[in-house]
Formats: sequence, C-alpha cells, structure tokens
Amino acid sequence: MDKYIINGGEKLFGSIEIQSAKNTVLPLLAASILTDEPVRIRGVPKINDVESMLLILSEVGCKITRKKDSLVIDSSNAVSHEIPTRLTKELRSSVFMLGPLLSRFRRAKISYPGGCDIGLRPIDLHLSGLQRLGVEIAERDGYIHCETQKLLGAEILLDFPSVGATENIILAAVKADGITVIRNAAKEPEIIDLQHFLNAMGAKVCGAGGGTVAIEGVKRLHGVDFVPIGDRIEAGTYLIAAASCGGEIETQGVPPENIAALLHKLRENGCKIYTKNDKIVLTSNGALRAVNIVETMPFPGFPTDLQAQYTALCTTAKGSTLVVENLFETRYRYAAELKRMGADVTVRGRTAFVRGVERLHGACVTAGDLRGGAALVLAALKAEGQSSVVELSYIDRGYDDFEGKLRRLGAKIRRVRI
Ligand code: EPZ
Repeated sequence: MDKYIINGGEKLFGSIEIQSAKNTVLPLLAASILTDEPVRIRGVPKINDVESMLLILSEVGCKITRKKDSLVIDSSNAVSHEIPTRLTKELRSSVFMLGPLLSRFRRAKISYPGGCDIGLRPIDLHLSGLQRLGVEIAERDGYIHCETQKLLGAEILLDFPSVGATENIILAAVKADGITVIRNAAKEPEIIDLQHFLNAMGAKVCGAGGGTVAIEGVKRLHGVDFVPIGDRIEAGTYLIAAASCGGEIETQGVPPENIAALLHKLRENGCKIYTKNDKIVLTSNGALRAVNIVETMPFPGFPTDLQAQYTALCTTAKGSTLVVENLFETRYRYAAELKRMGADVTVRGRTAFVRGVERLHGACVTAGDLRGGAALVLAALKAEGQSSVVELSYIDRGYDDFEGKLRRLGAKIRRVRI
C-alpha cells in the first residue's frame, strides 16, 4: 500500500497535459463490442477504472492490444454475455455493458455494479429504458438477467438526466430496429463524445448535448480510430489546486465551455482566468474570497465531480460558503478528514456549510472515494506543515500520475510505500 507525503505551502506554476476523459473512455470501451472490427482509442489514461473495464472486456472474449497510450480492442471473438460479480462490483461503468451485450448477443447477465460509495446509485433508469427497447429483465440470485428477441426503437423519457442511463440506452439503440428518441437525456460533453465515436463507426445518432437524443438503428458498425475529449474533471482539479495554493497554471485540451460553471466560481473567488480555444490559464494570489453558495447540477451546472475539490478550496477562502450536493446522497465523506486539518465544515445531509479559516495544518488523512481523495490532496497542498494521505487506490481510479503532474507544477508531494 502507498501513501502521499505532502509538504504544503508551495505555489503552483506550469502547464498540464490533460488525459483523455475517464468518463468518456469507459463507455467507449463498452461500445467497442458493437463491431467485430478493431477499435482504437488514443490517449487512454493509465488509471485503475480503465484496467477494470479491460478485465471485463477480456472476460467477454475481446483481445486487447496496447500501443503506447492507445488501446486496440478486437472483439471479433467475443463470446460471453456474462460478467462475473468479482468484476462488476469494482466498477460502476460495468453497467454500461448491458446495452452493447444486448445489441451483440441479445442477452446480458451482470450483477449490480459497484463503484465509489457516494450514494445509493440505483440503475432503475437504465433498466426501464432497456425495457422500453423490448428487453425482458429478471433480477434473481444477485444477478440482472436481460434478454430480447429483437431490440426495437422507442420513445424514452428519463425521470432524471442520468449520464449512465443516457449512454446505456444509446448503446442499446444504435443497432435496434427503428428510431429511438431519448428525452430529458443528460447533456454532459461525454455524451457528445460518445455520439461522435458511434457516428464514426457508422451509427446515426444526433442531438447529444441538447437534452433530446435521436438514434436511427443501423445494421452494422465498423471499426474506428478515435481520440476522446480531454478530462474536464482532471483539468478542473488542477485549476482548483492552483486557485487555492496561488500561482499560475495552464491546462491544454479541455474547452473552457466544458467547465464554465467552475471557471465562473473561480473568477468570483478572485482568480484571473484567460481562455483561448482549448487553453485555460488561471492566475491566483492564493488569498481568495468565498462565494456564498455553490450547488451541484447536471451539465451545464456545477459538476458534482468537482464538489469535493472545490469545498477544499472554500476551507481557507475569506468568508463562508454553502455547498449543496444535488446529485448524490453521501458525497461528503471527505469532510471529516478536512476537519482533522483544521477546516470548519458542518455537514447536514446534502449540504455543507464551510467557514473559511486562516490556515489549515498538516494531518494524516484517509481517502474514502475518488474525488474526496483528490480534495484531501488539494487541502494538504495548501496546509501548513506535513500531511500524509492514505488509501491512494481511490485516487488511482481516476487520476493518471497525479503526484507526478503536481510535482512538475512545484508541489512538494511524493508517493511512498508503507
Ligand atoms: C456518471 O455516473 C459519472 N461516472 C460520475 O462520475 C458522475 O458523478 C455522474 O455521472 C454525474 O455526472 C461515469 O461516467 C463513469 P448518473 P452515473 O446516472 O452515470 C441517479 C467520477 O467521480 N440515478 O448521472 O452513475 C443517481 O442515483 C464519477 O468520475 C438514478 O436514480 O451518474 C444519481 O443521484 C462519480 N437511477 C443521479 O441519478 C439510475 O438508473 C446521477 O447519476 C441512474 C442514476
């Protein structure tokens, strides 16, 4: 097991190369079994969630080849429609396999997906959407058994603009008979990227990003060589780090409109932000003023995946901030760890009230989920003195070389074996 040793107080300077978006690469990997021709995905980050998804594809019978930071998936010999519990419990994204497995085999068998413990994370919207497409679903002996004679296009209205449900239904519909229309669909940039990927394979998907997605089923899809969009959450994490610690950093590869809600808040905090095409430059003196309230919302609102990192910034901003988490029930596990560093945070349900303090002090803290773990690192970079962060496996799920990139910006952080 490893831990981070962090000596806080350093300002951050330099530029960051942003990895391909984790939350795009994962559904693209699932989509790769929609064709029996090779699929190449470039710029893939070395993160554990991708490794878990590759294990799932191997279980299905895919052949995976790595070429530098590209992956080539050949599913011509894919044979299995079942994914064992030991793999699905690792990863929320295992549920994205339902659509492609049904499209390819007319059957799918998975257990309930795992993933970060940030709430109940039901999959009822996934399953009701698939049922609308003609899928019979039975839940027994801990597995979800899906079967269909033929996937048929349908009109689907989502009760909530769920990212995963939108993606799963699109994946099931691309080769269904007829037209599928998904209303109240998620608008995240990752959905738009999935549309680009599928259309490059010969699919007919339109409307992604606008709330209503239409899919005209086609007979077959062909291989593709694809470069996913940059990871807006990774970029946002580093921008928040620089805003909080002070300094000047540049991110390249994420269009500012993909994290506009965050940039708006950081400007309100007193940061200077310059943007041009896919470049974002942030300058901060590290002495920020608090904004009154930040509420997480589906895109284009403030991203829930940046809530923890932004709350860490609020702990030393001048004034108080009300943080409201509208998407997940228990996404404040990291708050107790921030308090060990001297933060003044009061959590009630989905709300956290943060009073800015003069300074945080170093402490030994424990990550409990991916983004909460990143938040603890950001707080430690700001704190006076030395901190250690343990349970790095959570951070390794979604950040490629987190400590290396921060060190290249001037942070005093190292990873040690314990
Ligand atoms: C995706 O999760 C992301 N994961 C999450 O990122 C992200 O936080 C989330 O979207 C919201 O943006 C991936 O893309 C792999 P949802 P997903 O379905 O699809 C409820 C990270 O840190 N819901 O949009 O699981 C659900 O309980 C991860 O990178 C249902 O009620 O999110 C939640 O309250 C964490 N029924 C809300 O919708 C369903 O069938 C949003 O969930 C599905 C979801």
